[in-house]
Amino acid sequence: MTSALQLDDSGRLRHFLTIEGLDRVWLERIMDTAASFGSVAEQKVKKVPLLRGKTVVNLFFEPSTRTRTTFELAAKRLSADVLNINVAVSATTKGESLIDTVRNLEAMSVDMFVVRHGASGAAHFIARHVAPHISVINAGDGRHAHPTQAMLDMFTIRRHKPDFSSLIVTIVGDILHSRVARSQIHALNTLGVAEVRVVAPRTLLPVAVESLGVRACHDLDEGLEDADVVIMLRLQKERMQGALLPSEHEFFRCFGLTRQRLRRAKPDCLVMHPGPINRGVEIASEVADGGHSVILEQVGHGIAVRMAVMALTMGAVQG
Ligand code: CP
Repeated sequence: MTSALQLDDSGRLRHFLTIEGLDRVWLERIMDTAASFGSVAEQKVKKVPLLRGKTVVNLFFEPSTRTRTTFELAAKRLSADVLNINVAVSATTKGESLIDTVRNLEAMSVDMFVVRHGASGAAHFIARHVAPHISVINAGDGRHAHPTQAMLDMFTIRRHKPDFSSLIVTIVGDILHSRVARSQIHALNTLGVAEVRVVAPRTLLPVAVESLGVRACHDLDEGLEDADVVIMLRLQKERMQGALLPSEHEFFRCFGLTRQRLRRAKPDCLVMHPGPINRGVEIASEVADGGHSVILEQVGHGIAVRMAVMALTMGAVQG
């Protein structure tokens, strides 16, 4: 169903909603297209005319720093016009439904919706209802998916470690509530890594997590052993119901990444984090700012990867 929604009859990427259903060729095509946009940021005029005349709507129902701004910059670097809808001061606060909001924006002849929403499936819902010329990109829906984040993470890994087949990737933290982790796991397995490990207390791992194609560990030292890439996740307190942890202090003691613990991983391992980081909760400052960290590089790559996804879904580059 999702594949049918994302890819049209001719196999073109029409919407980008989830990594699931996309094969390795598609993931590599997105990364190759992003690589081709890398030089735009070095130009005197940081623009290419691929989406000139198109209108992109950033429709964010949840807070965001990195995703919203990099989507806006990506659209502007493709020469699109951008509308940022501030939901806090929109008619949503007067009871307007999601579909009515979308229908009204559609009436303004827009071409793309970039959607972040607290409900899993919100971007799929919009994709099923928009006019045929409109593309929808999922910028994070509930606990379900954050596919452009996963692709910028894969792009960052590939820049440093191009042979995915030899990699051990360890994802640490609140896996249960993380849409980022779900999308990363699908992408890593599709790209053929040697092993994906997830490390968390039992209360922060989904039931039967192994069915996603990962090895589950409850001990950080075990999970870090010989890892090539360590991805840290924050505690998603806004999605937690009930007490799932004794305290943040206790979480850091057991699962926080310190310089000493990182010695278990490979000497050239990458430390990643989708942000926002909570220093002293899941990661020590000395690691977040240290020599293994590519956290800010991830943010920068978000622009090229989002340019790629926008250009591909609009049919502005060969898909
Ligand atoms: N990684 C990420 O989604 O960050 P924001 O919430 O700031 O967009």
